[in-house]
Amino acid sequence: MKILVLHGVNLNMLGRRDPAQYGAATLAEINASLESLAGEFGIGLDIFQSNSEGEMIARIHVALDEGFDGVLINPGAWTHYSHALADALDILDLPIVEVHLSNIHAREAFRHESVLARVCAGSIAGFGLQSYLLGLRALWHLGKKSLRAAKQI
Ligand code: DQA
Repeated sequence: MKILVLHGVNLNMLGRRDPAQYGAATLAEINASLESLAGEFGIGLDIFQSNSEGEMIARIHVALDEGFDGVLINPGAWTHYSHALADALDILDLPIVEVHLSNIHAREAFRHESVLARVCAGSIAGFGLQSYLLGLRALWHLGKKSLRAAKQI
């Protein structure tokens, strides 16, 4: 199983960015935790971060031909307005799990809506670093389910 992990805008600043909302972990620490859990599950990860919406969408287009089984994404603020990112993810036709460190539903009104939700299998928000790990677990379960449905296991 191979999962594409996408970190959106401003997430490279974790560790230096409003720790009350986002915790103290840096992006490198989050990625190391993801790699460690992925290792336990035998999942391969490809991890990408960008502050440019165009670069992020270009990465998703390339992923079309790279044989991924799912996408784990924290879109950052793009969550709330990037229909272009949602459309790009939709082209992939893969299970997508959206994650957020903070509980976006308990924050400012503009954060309550995710325009990506329509293309995601589900979302996990409010558990800090654990949101990512729970999201990876969710993708692993989705992957197992689809393999079973195809009667491969
Ligand atoms: C975030 C929540 C977004 O509203 C915000 O713009 C971020 C981070 C989170 O992980 O909690 O950049 O996606």
